[in-house]
Amino acid sequence: MKTGLETLVLPAGRAAAEAAARTLAAGGLVAFPTETVYGLGADAANATAVAHIYSAKGRPAFNPLIAHVADLAAARRIGRFDARALQLAEAFWPGPLTLVVPKTVDCPVSDLATAGLDTVAIRIPAHPVGEAILRAFGGAVVAPSANISGHVSPTLAAHVEGDLAGRIDLIVDGGPVTVGVESTIVGCFEAPMLLRPGGLSRERIEAVLGTPLARPVVEAESDDSQPLAPGMLASHYAPRATVRLRVQEVAPDEALLAFGPDRLPGQEAAAAVMNLSPTANLDEAAANLFGYLRTLDAKSPRAIAVMTIPEEGLGEAINDRLRRAAVAR
Ligand code: TXA
Ligand code: MG
Repeated sequence: MKTGLETLVLPAGRAAAEAAARTLAAGGLVAFPTETVYGLGADAANATAVAHIYSAKGRPAFNPLIAHVADLAAARRIGRFDARALQLAEAFWPGPLTLVVPKTVDCPVSDLATAGLDTVAIRIPAHPVGEAILRAFGGAVVAPSANISGHVSPTLAAHVEGDLAGRIDLIVDGGPVTVGVESTIVGCFEAPMLLRPGGLSRERIEAVLGTPLARPVVEAESDDSQPLAPGMLASHYAPRATVRLRVQEVAPDEALLAFGPDRLPGQEAAAAVMNLSPTANLDEAAANLFGYLRTLDAKSPRAIAVMTIPEEGLGEAINDRLRRAAVAR
């Protein structure tokens, strides 16, 4: 593992984009903001740099990574897009959607980054800082979320610093992200398949496709299952505290992650209370989710009690992350 590195933190801007591009070209690791969460980027074509991502994160297995590019032309050099994949790319890119498509014959993404699969996950992030870095670098950048494996994904540069300082070369600080949960992943197979709910709602994708998205046959219920998105292990988005879901009341030594205008019995005496969205806006809740989990976890409550969140729009992704956080380790 590369430890004891001097991690530089730069405010976003032209100098930071150029430093990021130089660092990536030299095989270094650069954390940068996207609209979903901060990513930990490496040159997709450089297998050694990709290997450093896994060791810096302490990622136990070589889960495949998402290749980030600046435009559709770059995406089509990496993956083969059929009519439906193109339809989704044109409707939602740049944006919080990742498409899994067959690799091109001369796909430059290293086999380590795709974990030896013949498909590749691609997305064009909708973030001016991410885009500036991708354009300055020129090639594809593979980037998982910029956190230690198993921790909550970072929505601020300070979260990245807390997890990865000394293990990576550069952090570009572009302020808080806007979406707050990772991208939605769609497998462009015979039937387009929702591999991971995320920052783009199922409803919006289905409206463009005109058909419902299939769900993977094997759900990511346990670490033993073989989900189609192999990184989706059951316990993944984990704070240190126990997480209790759909609570109807709060104990005095618990922290409450609230949602909407309602109050719960015991709320006044809770160890801490944060409300994801007092007006029950699911987009706002998604943007606040990981930061609030970190803040409540830092208070070392006996448990984090979470109110019920509706399973619609971005609620599907929020509930997916919360269920993973609630899996006992
Ligand atoms: O919003 C996001 O997607 C963020 C930002 C940084 O872009 N990235 C992110 O990456 O969430 P990561 O590594 O945490 O999640 C990547 C997911 C994993 O679940 C992995 O299994 C899946 O993508 N994946 C990657 N390549 C795949 C492939 N060829 N087939 C199926 N799933 C794939
Ligand atoms: Mg992650």
